[in-house]
Amino acid sequence: MADKAVADFGLIGLAVMGQNLILNVADHGFTVCAYNRTTSKVDRFLENEAKGKSIVGAHSIEEFCAKLKRPRRIMLLVMAGKPVDQFIESLLPHLEAGDIIIDGGNSHFPDSNRRTKYLAEKGIRFVGSGVSGGEEGARYGPSLMPGGHEEAWPYIKDIFQSISAKSDGEACCDWVGDEGAGHFVKMVHNGIEYGDMQLICEAYDILKRGLGLPTNEIADVFAKWNKGVLDSFLIEITRDVLYYNDNDGTPLVDKILDKAGQKGTGKWTAINALDLGMPVTLIGEAVFSRCLSALKDERIRASSLLQGPAVPEFTGDKQAFIDDLEQALYASKIISYAQGFMLIQEAAREYGWKLNKPSIALMWRGGCIIRSVFLKDITNAYRNNPDLENLLFDDFFNKAIQKAQSGWRNVVSKGALWGIPTPAFSTALSFYDGYRTRDLPANLLQAQRDYFGAHTFRIKPEHANENYPEGKDIHVNWTGRGGNVSASTYIV
Ligand code: 6PG
Repeated sequence: MADKAVADFGLIGLAVMGQNLILNVADHGFTVCAYNRTTSKVDRFLENEAKGKSIVGAHSIEEFCAKLKRPRRIMLLVMAGKPVDQFIESLLPHLEAGDIIIDGGNSHFPDSNRRTKYLAEKGIRFVGSGVSGGEEGARYGPSLMPGGHEEAWPYIKDIFQSISAKSDGEACCDWVGDEGAGHFVKMVHNGIEYGDMQLICEAYDILKRGLGLPTNEIADVFAKWNKGVLDSFLIEITRDVLYYNDNDGTPLVDKILDKAGQKGTGKWTAINALDLGMPVTLIGEAVFSRCLSALKDERIRASSLLQGPAVPEFTGDKQAFIDDLEQALYASKIISYAQGFMLIQEAAREYGWKLNKPSIALMWRGGCIIRSVFLKDITNAYRNNPDLENLLFDDFFNKAIQKAQSGWRNVVSKGALWGIPTPAFSTALSFYDGYRTRDLPANLLQAQRDYFGAHTFRIKPEHANENYPEGKDIHVNWTGRGGNVSASTYIV
């Protein structure tokens, strides 16, 4: 084939995200080669959006690979799952040792672990990269979270960091870690996104049903919040959604069917948290809230069968309650991010990845869906102390939660009294109270487990003695001779 290697970067998959990413790369001075399985899309793209830019096209995988400079840098933006493996297989016969394949889809991180190993055996460097920010982000600066075969990083760093979003002049893109670490961090990002969205929806519900505010006034509240500690992309789009009226002049949001969809990344985060034994409760509640919303027909039946309190007319100081709600959202958000970072920390330990918390916070600061002013404070917290055991131990966040606490408790209790569900606010508060409790009732739980299943328990150090030695697994015959428990104790 006479094709000359002219392109610095190749991208497969010309859906909107793919097209926008190509345009973004081309705008930064690189020549890009575009390919799509349905090749008419390549022609259409070249004749329209790509016209006059440093973009070439290919009509076969062979031609595509021939047009790329070595080592080839190929990005796949195709549907996660089988299509990624299929494209990898079709590329392999045309690649050389050292070439780089980047998967930019929302792939499950165990798949990226597997692909990194599989391709390394063939001399190909694989990168699984989180790409966040939707169509706009892809075009003008996404947040990029690459991980995989680290040898690939020097070859893609320049392109990735020039096309990514910038926050205070710093690129929202850095090397995340080995194997599927990039996709893992993107998965947690999405889980946190689920949590943030659920918290916003609960605040909206309280403003709507608890305070009885009309939609445009709720939009005003979000507009104001977007100028304070909650300043973020998701609050901003919520404001815009609430201001948006249909042709008949009424808010479109009121007409949208209340059944939430989901593609699975939030669920993966919750499952992973369970697998690693981490109490990432807020993301879990956010996923279950979507599941509950999806049971619309059943909920309609339940709404006429099951009783609860009627929401009373609000008589107090509305503005003071709205301020409490802002604090409840802020405090719950702090808990959610603290939980997300607990999961990241545990994953690093479990999978042997060197995950850099300050740079993860920086990657999320701009370009992505969860971008916010708040992430700057998280970046600062981890920069001040990269070994910070828990985000809540940082002085800034510790004080912020302290300040938010009374408003937060007020909102959660009002939700319960009014019968308005606040699963994310409530679980965040329960987590906070559980986390700061020195003695939880798990002593009783351990006794129950030992009673019915001889699962054993350990004694509190301050109560240890020769019958109950510290650090030993102890079993008691709970139905044995009353009073003389030590006689029926044994140590495993
Ligand atoms: C992003 C988003 C993106 C995804 C949404 C949709 O970072 O740009 O996270 O990856 O489109 O998360 O996810 P659900 O359909 O599961 O809500």
